[in-house]
Amino acid sequence: MSPVLPGDAPVVHDLIGIGFGPSNVAMAIALSEHNARVGRREAVTAHFFERQQGFGWHRNMLIDDATMQVSFLKDLVTLRNPASEFSFLCYLQSRGRLVDFLNQKNLFPLRVEFHDYLEWAAARVDDMVSYGHEVVAVEPVTVDGVVEYLDVTARSGPEAVVHRARNVVIGTGLRPRMPEGVDRTDRIWHTSDLLGRVEALRGRPSRFLVVGAGQSAAENVAYLHRRFPDAEVCAVFSRYGYSPADDSSFANRIFDPAAVGDYFSAPDAVKRRLMDYHGNTNYSVVDVDLIDALYREAYREKVLGTERLRFLNVSRLTGVEEGRDGVRATVTSLVTGEETPLDADAVVFATGYRPADPLALLGRVADHCHRDDQGRVRVERDYRVATGPGFRGGIYVQGGTEHTHGITSSLLSNTAVRVGEILESLLARGRGAARAAGPVPDEVGSAR
Ligand SMILES: Cc1cc2nc3c(=O)[nH]c(=O)nc-3n(C[C@H](O)[C@H](O)[C@H](O)COP(=O)(O)OP(=O)(O)OC[C@H]3O[C@@H](n4cnc5c(N)ncnc54)[C@H](O)[C@@H]3O)c2cc1C
Ligand SMILES: NC(=O)c1ccc[n+]([C@@H]2O[C@H](COP(=O)([O-])OP(=O)(O)OC[C@H]3O[C@@H](n4cnc5c(N)ncnc54)[C@H](OP(=O)(O)O)[C@@H]3O)[C@@H](O)[C@H]2O)c1
Repeated sequence: MSPVLPGDAPVVHDLIGIGFGPSNVAMAIALSEHNARVGRREAVTAHFFERQQGFGWHRNMLIDDATMQVSFLKDLVTLRNPASEFSFLCYLQSRGRLVDFLNQKNLFPLRVEFHDYLEWAAARVDDMVSYGHEVVAVEPVTVDGVVEYLDVTARSGPEAVVHRARNVVIGTGLRPRMPEGVDRTDRIWHTSDLLGRVEALRGRPSRFLVVGAGQSAAENVAYLHRRFPDAEVCAVFSRYGYSPADDSSFANRIFDPAAVGDYFSAPDAVKRRLMDYHGNTNYSVVDVDLIDALYREAYREKVLGTERLRFLNVSRLTGVEEGRDGVRATVTSLVTGEETPLDADAVVFATGYRPADPLALLGRVADHCHRDDQGRVRVERDYRVATGPGFRGGIYVQGGTEHTHGITSSLLSNTAVRVGEILESLLARGRGAARAAGPVPDEVGSAR
């Protein structure tokens, strides 16, 4: 698909991917399957940059008994190509566990197992990625008054490399959300720091506070309670109790590929209503088995008179101050307004995530991108950011599209299908360009 530029022009990739989490690993797989099918002339050249030194998916939350919240069939490929060699089932076979897995009669693998799957899949397309490279800038390259290419700068230690592309796909994931005015420290953690922080903790902790009532919060509470048998674990949240995630069959259809099209076409008021109805499939909710396990444990401790699992419900953390040996927290009851001071070894904020602003990296390129009347990025159905007429390249986004494409935006459920749609869009737009441009480059697939 890539035409050669005249003279000594640098290699131009058809696509540069920013980030190599599950979304862009799935993209790389879709490209490699496409390229294997069509051969060199129609191959799409691509390269990805990932700032981590190797593949890693929410490593600090790889609690050893935590399970996936999505069926293994919603892996990186199956809904796009059930015959793919990159499926979770092929992974299981390569690890010699296919039959053992099936005998569990369970659709939801352990998170550590799914991480191993993702790592296995990423390793099979690692000729397309540079790890340890953080993308720090994207600059427009103008030809005859039109932005034709994008120069992507990636930093690796003191070195920087610049690669040129016709299109970029941004898959930079979510950012931890802390309450306003609270900073992360050695003792004030976000749940995304959990396992690393626990490892670094000195001494024998006697109390933890966990703020929030979502899946992360409940997993933190259960983990800290189990990991530190002498410590009290206090869960602080404004709800009366944890609410169960709605994973019933009809509600689950909100994660279907078809739901993306419905959501995209719906008027804003209907979009809002759908999120209100079905936000409880994902946000501020907990897997019901975990709720039951926590309740059973709290009751068991009550019976035995050994209570160290405490639920400070209808409450808010209104103060947090770090001292030399711990944190002084203030918990305020939303019922009575009573303030309770609590000393803790650490406070974990399981207060969720927000999407990274996809345009933050784009500098002057962002001037070409359209926003809606609420300042949100306008994204087309094919996940391409809407741009003005003086812009020929494509900026695709994976994530950060909840306002246009719905609840699956930051999840795995629709990843396989989404990357297929992005590839289709690249090919459809590239065909026009290739017809106008001429010869085929020497290299296909990837280039470092
Ligand atoms: C603990 C936890 C468990 C989850 N479990 C599930 C689940 O079971 N099912 C589900 O559907 N969803 C789950 N999610 C939602 C989650 O968002 C998706 O699983 C998934 O991580 C989305 O993949 P991604 O590639 O879009 O983003 P990420 O996985 O966040 O990957 C983004 C990558 O981009 C890299 N990056 C960021 N900025 C740059 C830059 N400037 N330059 C280079 N690289 C960069 C990051 O290092 C990262 O590797 C979970 C989320 C969390 C926090
Ligand atoms: N095992 C797994 O697969 C797994 C594990 C962890 C996370 N995840 C996924 O990761 C995503 C995020 O889940 P999450 O639990 O991290 O976040 P979340 O669902 O967004 O929950 C955030 C919680 O923090 C509370 N909160 C937010 N801001 C607050 C503030 N300023 N002060 C006090 N409380 C505040 C919220 O309160 P309200 O209750 O009032 O809304 C909510 O209870 C979900 O998609 C989830 O499924 C999956």
